[in-house]
Parts: sequence; C-alpha cells; structure tokens
Amino acid sequence: MQTLTRELSKYVNQAFVDAGYGDAYGAVKVSDRPDLADYQCNDAMAVAKAQRCNPFDVAEAVSSRLQDCPAFSSVTVARPGFINIKVNDEYIASRMNEMRADDNLGFVPCDDPCTIVVDYGGPNVAKPLHVGHLRSAIIGETMKRLARFLGNNVIGDVHLGDWGLQMGLVITEIKHRWPDLVYFRPDFVEGMDENLSISAEDLYNIYPTASLKAKGDPDYMAEAQEATLMLQNRHPGYYALWKNFMQISVRDLKASYAELSVDFDVWYGESDADEYVNDMVEGFISGGFARESEGALVVDVAEESDSAPMPPCLIRKSNGAMLYATTDLATIVQRVKDYNPDKIWYLTDARQTLHFDQVFRCAKKTGIVPETLKFEYLPFGTMNGKDGKPFKTRDGGVMRLSDLIQMMHDAFADKSRNSANVDSDETAALGGINAEANEIARLVGNAALKFGDMVNHRTKNYVFDLDKFMSFNGKTGPYLLYTVVRIQSVLRKAEERGLACGPITAPCGDTERSLMLELSRCSSMLLSAYDEKAPNYICESLFNCASIFNKFYFENRILDEADDARRGSWLTLLTLIRDIMKQQLWILGIDVPEKM
Ligand code: ARG
Repeated sequence: MQTLTRELSKYVNQAFVDAGYGDAYGAVKVSDRPDLADYQCNDAMAVAKAQRCNPFDVAEAVSSRLQDCPAFSSVTVARPGFINIKVNDEYIASRMNEMRADDNLGFVPCDDPCTIVVDYGGPNVAKPLHVGHLRSAIIGETMKRLARFLGNNVIGDVHLGDWGLQMGLVITEIKHRWPDLVYFRPDFVEGMDENLSISAEDLYNIYPTASLKAKGDPDYMAEAQEATLMLQNRHPGYYALWKNFMQISVRDLKASYAELSVDFDVWYGESDADEYVNDMVEGFISGGFARESEGALVVDVAEESDSAPMPPCLIRKSNGAMLYATTDLATIVQRVKDYNPDKIWYLTDARQTLHFDQVFRCAKKTGIVPETLKFEYLPFGTMNGKDGKPFKTRDGGVMRLSDLIQMMHDAFADKSRNSANVDSDETAALGGINAEANEIARLVGNAALKFGDMVNHRTKNYVFDLDKFMSFNGKTGPYLLYTVVRIQSVLRKAEERGLACGPITAPCGDTERSLMLELSRCSSMLLSAYDEKAPNYICESLFNCASIFNKFYFENRILDEADDARRGSWLTLLTLIRDIMKQQLWILGIDVPEKM
C-alpha cells in the first residue's frame, strides 16, 4: 500500500503532466479548510511563478483533467489557484478494506531503511533513576520502536553511566563506611570477593553523600579521583567491588524500566568503551588532531562559520583521567566496529547540546567514523512542576522515578475506588485492588505519564500535572485507553450475540466519513513523526481517532443496527480502529488492558 496523500498526489501529478506543466508538481496535503475540501494542491501557484502564467488557468487545466478520476468526488478551483479535492466515499471505503487486509494495517515503511543505534536512557549506576532520565527513556523507547516498525534495523543501547568520577566517589564512600571490606585489603586478588550486602537503596544514599562531601572537602575529592584512576587501571579490589555494586544497581534499574515498559536491546556502559580509549587517543595524537593545553589534551573543533564560541573538545585531563567526551568518542568507535550504523541517535536533556556538538565534530574531524555516518541529536526540554521550575518532590528533592511511578499508580487506584467519578460501565467494574486491578493501574499510570509527556513537542518544557494527565476526559493517555477498551467491549458483545463482521462499505454519515479519513491519515502521521522525530504527531493522530470514534459511538447504535451489511461494516471498521490505535499506542510504549 501507499499512503493516501501519496496516492492522491500521483493522480494530481499525472494531471499536471498531461496538462503540459512537467513532472515536478502535484503534491497534495490535508486541506486547511476541512469545511471545503479534504485535500488541497497549491502547485498551480508554483507553476505560474516558474512558467510565468496565470495560476487560475493552470489550476483549471489540471482540475479539468481530474474530473473523471474515481478517487475524487469533486475537484474545484479557488482563487488565486488552489485545487480543492474531496475524496470519493467508495474510494475511502475501498482503502479501509485494503488496510484491513494488509499485514501492516496500511502503515507504509520509510523510504530509506538503515541501521540506527539509539542511545537513550543514560542512567547512572549507583545514582537513582530520576525524572531527568524519564524523558530520555520514554521518548527514546518510542523513537526506537517507531524506527523499527518503519523497517529500520535498530539497536537500543542504554549507555549506562558506569565509569568515571561518580564511580570513584562511590568507592571512596564505601571505603569510609566499611574500611574492613575484603576489597580494600592490599593482598586482594580476584576470586576473594564476598557478596556485598548493600542494597540499591544504600547505593542511592551513598552517592549523594559522597558527592556532597567531595564538594566541601578537597582531600576527599582527591581520594575519589585517585580511586577513579585506580578503577580505570583495573585495580583488582576496586574493580571487583565495582562489578559487585554494578550488579546491584543494574538489577534495580531493570526493574524500574520494566515498570515503564522500556526495554533496551543492549546494556553497554561507558566502561565498555574503555578498551578503545588508548588506541583512539594515540590516533588523535599521531594524526595531528590533538594538542596539549595546560597539561591537558584537547582537539580543536571550532569552525570558521561558528557564530558562538566553540571550546575545544577535552580528551584527557592533566592528571591522566579521561572525560565524558572521551568516553562518548570511544563508544562511537565501538559502535562503528560492532554495528557499522548509518545513524546514531542521542536522546538527552537539551543542556547537553554543546557536549554533543563537540563530540560529533571531533569524531568527524578525526575520522573515527565513516563520512556517511549521521549523528542525530534529539534533545528534549525539562519536565517542570506547577511552579514552572524543574519537577521536584514536595520537600524540594529530586523525585525518584520509582516514586513517580508509585504516585501515578496510587492516583489511579484512588480514582477507581471512587469510580462514581468516572462515568463508564467499563471502569465501574474496577473494585478492590487485586492483581488484575494492580496491573490495570500500572498500565493506566504508564499511559498517563507517557502520553502526558509525548503529547508535547519533544523540545518543549512541560508541566507535570498529575490530575490533568490522569483524567479520563481530554487529551490524555487514560482517555485513549478507555476508548480502545470501549471498542473492545463492543466487539466482545458483538461476538457474544453472534454478530458477524462484513466488508466495509461507503460511510453513511459525516462522522463515519471523518473517522475513515482520519484512519487513512495515520500512516502519513507516523512517517512525519519519524522524519521530524516528533512523537507528538502520533499522539495527535491517536487523539483524533479516539475523539471521532467516540462521537460516532454516541451517534450510532452499532450493535442494534438492523441492516446486516451496515452493522457488519461497522464492526469491521471497529476492529480496524482498535488495531490501528493499539499499534500507535504500542509505538508510544503504551499497553492496553483488556478491560478497565
Ligand atoms: N549518563 C548521562 C547523564 O546522566 C547521560 C548519557 C547520555 N548519553 C551519552 N552518550 N552521553 O547525564
């Protein structure tokens, strides 16, 4: 199948060719005036400009050649030269049937599938996963699923922060608290390690303590730096200790991500890039790319065209320690070797823009990547509290992700206990908190959180508003789940009554027609979301489908429809909406419960 926009453009393009204006014209887009038309083509103006003629005459010549086209019910011209198109009802219905029969529900793959590494999540070992990492995880998961669904070969890498000073800080604090641990014995050799009886919770408390101490105490800081260097040089005791708390932290991280239905293909960390660092840095030096600057090693990355200052990329500090940029560069070396990707996507908070600019430039300049490799940075804004400042807990601390998840979960449980507030027969079924209800609460919380985030354009800051996100009315995750559950419930009842599906026939009312048109547009919306890396298009598309469906649902008595053909067509249409919405929700990382 092809998208509806492209299909219609093909006809219009042919009319431009037939009218003698050449092959470059005829693209249609969704009409700006839905009251007048479904689609419009503005290319008569472009022809007029290029070929010095009257746009209205061009539009007339093209439109006269489209009058018999079976895909259109009307093609008219408006001044100065807009071609307005209404799509034929039979044609829309035939597309619905094609979509229903298509394995991909009419979703068209992208034009240039390739290999993409998606670097997202980026949690730090021994530091709690906080809401700052939340957006990376949920937007990254969506971009990964979207790219994969559209036919790309995609590798999602969590890129753990498991190396560098933060690890030295943790080791130092553990040493201060438990100096007798076997890891600190001078005669420690591999195999002597004892199980560390530290919980993830302890670790999360150790890191902030250490970091605070280091800020006020230069000796403590020096100790941590020393420990970092020793770890990087594989000191047996420190290395074994590190491996031990790594395990504890990763287990905890995996559990949090599972709650969010976020799932990484590989769990590489900064430490995995370490083995590539030395050769790479050697290459920077021998290639004449790196220079000494106050004892440190740097690569200049400024370009003449820069309008803002671009500091050099710092590769090695004067004490020999490698930096965040070094690790990112070495990780690029590893990715090229392992996957030879065409693109690498990075998802972090927009505050890391300069860092990635430097890293990308340095990688290109030093030739550690093929020229064709494309780095694509997908920054995002912050999640703010109602005060407009980055989201914090009530006591001003950083909200832990696990607490946030619990909060969403509790909010839903509260809501369903007061199910009188929620006007639906489906939701009223939710009574006590049993395992099933728990899972439903998780799914609703997850939907609320993710949709509330991604409905905003990626680069915008947004306000976290629990009540708004959890509402069953309006542009929210719960509203969408509720809509799909409603469709599922109608289809279940139809089955119980033995009512059969039939071929989809031409729409019999405006709402049904709008619904079909909206479904026809889902594929284009998905492609735009991919091209512009903007999951909010998928959110818009879902919301449109849901709200038009609900209008349709209230206007028609689907199950009681007496005309078998009509009812059969509606039931098939319902299965199509359900499957399309579920597919889009899946891309957003949102799972739908069977019932609510
Ligand atoms: N761990 C980093 C942080 O918490 C994010 C990592 C982002 N990815 C990368 N390749 N640098 O800020």
